[in-house]
Amino acid sequence: MTVDAAEKIDELRTQIAHHNERYHTLDDPEISDADYDDLVRELRALEAKYPDLITADSPTGQVGGAVVTTFDSVEHEVAMMSLDNAMDGDELQAWADRVVKGLDGASPIFVCELKFDGLAMSLRYENGVFVRAATRGDGTTGEDVTVNVATIADVPDVTGGDGPRPDLLEVRGEVYMATSAFERLNERALAAGDKPFVNPRNSAAGSLRQKDPAKTAERELSFFTYQLGKIETGTGDKDLLTHQGELAYLGSLGFPINEHVRAFGSIDEVAAHCLHWQEHRHELDYEIDGVVIKVDDLGQRDVLGVTSRAPRWAIAYKFPPEERTTRLLDIQVSVGRTGRATPFAVLDPVFVGGSTVTMATLHNREQVQLKDVRPGDTVIVRKAGDVIPEVVGPVLSVRPPDLEAWIFPDNCPACSNPLVQPEGEADTRCFAPDCPAQRDQKLSYFASRGAMDIEGLGEQMVEKLTAAGLVKDAADLYSLTIEQLVELDRVGQTSAANLVAEIQKSTVRPLPKFLTALGIRHLGPAASAALTESFHTLDEIMTKSIDDLAAVDGVGGVIATTVRNWFDQGANRAYIEKFRSAGISFGDPGAATRAAQERASVVQTLEGRTVVVTGTLAGFNREEASAAIASRGGKSPGSVSNKTFALVVGDSAGASKMTKAESLEVPIIDEREFVRLLDTGELPGRYAAEE
Ligand code: IVH
Repeated sequence: MTVDAAEKIDELRTQIAHHNERYHTLDDPEISDADYDDLVRELRALEAKYPDLITADSPTGQVGGAVVTTFDSVEHEVAMMSLDNAMDGDELQAWADRVVKGLDGASPIFVCELKFDGLAMSLRYENGVFVRAATRGDGTTGEDVTVNVATIADVPDVTGGDGPRPDLLEVRGEVYMATSAFERLNERALAAGDKPFVNPRNSAAGSLRQKDPAKTAERELSFFTYQLGKIETGTGDKDLLTHQGELAYLGSLGFPINEHVRAFGSIDEVAAHCLHWQEHRHELDYEIDGVVIKVDDLGQRDVLGVTSRAPRWAIAYKFPPEERTTRLLDIQVSVGRTGRATPFAVLDPVFVGGSTVTMATLHNREQVQLKDVRPGDTVIVRKAGDVIPEVVGPVLSVRPPDLEAWIFPDNCPACSNPLVQPEGEADTRCFAPDCPAQRDQKLSYFASRGAMDIEGLGEQMVEKLTAAGLVKDAADLYSLTIEQLVELDRVGQTSAANLVAEIQKSTVRPLPKFLTALGIRHLGPAASAALTESFHTLDEIMTKSIDDLAAVDGVGGVIATTVRNWFDQGANRAYIEKFRSAGISFGDPGAATRAAQERASVVQTLEGRTVVVTGTLAGFNREEASAAIASRGGKSPGSVSNKTFALVVGDSAGASKMTKAESLEVPIIDEREFVRLLDTGELPGRYAAEE
């Protein structure tokens, strides 16, 4: 057992040393930070299990990379430590428990800062004058990058403030590149025909290692201060007792302090704060990969102390990784309802951004060529901002030799007809009218939420129905019987009955839903609604000319032409008639007209006013309440602002909107008062305007 463990530990140490070099020395990592962290965690877990196997030079006891020799070395007077990580709420709680225990039960104030994804930097000031900047290096020895850091506008040349200048001051913080600066840099790189940079962190690192500081100056680097390293004052010790006090002091000297520093008295609040930033990280103009939590009281910090690599009084809560490396197993092509052939990556399953990813779109032919990803490559997979995973690119340094470039197929994988890329278009398509992939995708789209909303009719059920030959087009759905459905694989009596009922329910969907469900190219929900608003019935829409259709607000020439052409085809007209005889109502023909008439006759009691509704009302659901407000000329957005005329509060309303309304002195009314407001436009007496 121990022999196996010893071997594994050895292997992990070699791997970690290799990746340390790629990351810290060469600025060219082969694996994502998250994968690196996993290696370290695995090693640490093994060392915890077999303490005899721990060695002094194990990477778990050290801070990071070796020192590059091209810049002068700087010995840090106070070691630049690393931080331990908490990967989830439980690990955060466990850390807080250790802290409280270490403080004999006292509960500390926790200061939360964002964890900036840049490079740690130590800045030294003598008598208030900037004299040196050093990178972290291995924690004890870093590199002298003074001339380059001197070009960063955020780094003061001389400290400000009213008080005496400290004899010696060492300030720590993070050099980073703002996302917008990174985008500008890459635009310039592309325009100059250079290779784009991978991410802001790597470009910041590269910028600091420029031999020519003028180059660094062009890169628009920034700096946030997060720690006081050392201070010696001529007038005796500065009276600094807390981290918040230190930050305020550093701010007064002119160092940039991030605006999102917060202090909390409980770890639950800390956890909520971490989750908040996990969700909102992309609203910032710089990248963060977590939240750093620090004990505020410097005396308590002393009591807690440090380990060989990290302080016990701080922890980094790390967000789930958004980037991972994995193996690209294959590239396949899927064909959508309009015939578009989309290449996608089949991946060795990898946990990224909070879920396991097995596939990622590669968008189109050009994208695959540009990224030059090949089956067999190790690729970087990313899930940022939105939830859709993306393949960033291959890790070329580990590409096996002779890996062949992938070639877009000539034929549709579903029907074998040729795939064609029309002149001037980015997409490649299958134009075969009877392509089974297009048929199945059309059916799924027909049943989807934004269209006919048929519950229980997902992709798998569609495939079963078409494979059994029960359904050839969407109109066939309406003649399906329970008896037919129970014959299908793994479909029981109840789900068969439910599906038939759901299909029947969809016969009375409003006309815009049906129009959308037809899947006419370019005709989405908004244009379908606009057409219905103008022409009211399907029969009328079907007879309109391109000009009539294009004249509708929200329907341009492209949509008008495709709609006209679609209805001109005999097969499509027959398709509509098939729906008609299946009992589809095509919306209620009179409804749109009636709604317009109703609108015209309702007194505009809320003209130009904004009324927000929260909680559950007895007499209105959400849409009805919004419609009631809209039909009286008002608006009903989801949040309270100083423009809000009134906040309507129903049952089980959350406190946040009320608190906000109170602070902005927005009238808060109940349902009864809301009904009166709709009728008369008046607020209750307690809000009577002062004359
Ligand atoms: S405090 C002893 N605060 O995270 C405490 N570090 O793995 C030293 N970092 O090397 C670090 N934002 O580069 C601290 N608000 C913050 C930070 C931060 C980013 C980086 C820093 C450090 C690494 C720790």
